[in-house]
Amino acid sequence: MNILNEPIQLKSGVIIPNRIVMAPMTSKGSSWDGIIEEEDLKFYQKRNQVAGLIITGATAVSELGENFSYQMSIYDDRFIPGLSKLAKLIKGNGNKAVVQLYHSGANSKVSYQKHGKVVAPCLVDFPHLPYIVSELTDEEIWSIIKDFGQATIRAIKAGFDGVEIHGAYSHLIQQFFSTYSNKRVDYWGGTLEKRMNFALEIVKEVQNTVEKYAQRDFIIGFRIMEEEFHWGSTGYDFQDTLKLIDRLSDTNIDYIHGTTNRYGKLFKEVIEGRTALIIVPHASSAEDALKGLEYGDMISIARAALIEPYFAQKIREGKVADMATEITSTEMANSLGFPSKLTKWMLDPMGLSIVPKGMNYFK
Ligand SMILES: Cc1cc2nc3c(=O)[nH]c(=O)nc-3n(C[C@H](O)[C@H](O)[C@H](O)COP(=O)(O)O)c2cc1C
Repeated sequence: MNILNEPIQLKSGVIIPNRIVMAPMTSKGSSWDGIIEEEDLKFYQKRNQVAGLIITGATAVSELGENFSYQMSIYDDRFIPGLSKLAKLIKGNGNKAVVQLYHSGANSKVSYQKHGKVVAPCLVDFPHLPYIVSELTDEEIWSIIKDFGQATIRAIKAGFDGVEIHGAYSHLIQQFFSTYSNKRVDYWGGTLEKRMNFALEIVKEVQNTVEKYAQRDFIIGFRIMEEEFHWGSTGYDFQDTLKLIDRLSDTNIDYIHGTTNRYGKLFKEVIEGRTALIIVPHASSAEDALKGLEYGDMISIARAALIEPYFAQKIREGKVADMATEITSTEMANSLGFPSKLTKWMLDPMGLSIVPKGMNYFK
């Protein structure tokens, strides 16, 4: 287990005290307006020893980018006081705090409820969506890219150690990368190279912002989704992703974060040490976590971090037989600091679609 406890220095210079990462999880403890409240603070306080690098749930960089209700936002300065409290308590035990930045594009159903408008790379009839989307103009696209920069300034001001750009789970960055949702034929689409431009311009904007505003080493990570399939069509496959990873590896970012353990070997070969790779081994034990390090420089855990808030600490102290592997009651969820809306979401069979069937430890 020793390697899990080894520190790692990222490209920016930031040292992560061990190889375990808490994957981003929307915790639903914020207000309807996206302001961090007590429930969210309690959730993260409880988990500030779960990993060496702790990534917050997705935060919306634009008003029109919200997918989930009661998640935290970062699109305005009024969110900074809550974000500052959050950064401080995540870092309370010497672990590093990263905030995940996202825009949900076509899937911004909460923004639709609030503002009656949803934007997307183009006018695709998304059968799963109960509304019509608006196609982004070139100017609007650049404005969203700037929003990622502004969000980064707020993350710096709030005291975070870094940001993760969310390019996965079918949100806007992935919508631009996918041939299913991007039929544009301008700078933003038409070829694989052009479908990467939105992601790469955001990385550039965030890097320029960090250079200008961060007076300290500051982490920039990027989350990718390995592939995207639909009934009868392919948005993109892992070969396309390998090309994106190659381009991202050239940008000097700190890490690339996947969403599974598939293709780890291929990703590592393409990256060739240019950046760190975070693998998601769907771990429920220290042993699973260790396996993820075969190809990953670090591993991330999501549900295991919900269930066992002392995951990294117990590995460090050699208490692996002591780790919790399931949540058996709502009372237990409460004692683990779950916001009430998170418990509800996890119990709802239609709620959290990203938890694979048969892998929900939440009984
Ligand atoms: C409650 C919950 C909320 C999540 N919210 C996010 C999120 O905001 N951003 C994100 O990139 N992934 C999110 N995920 C996905 C996780 O980061 C992770 O990729 C997924 O759960 C698989 O990892 P696991 O097998 O360790 O749970 C969420 C997962 C869960 C369980």
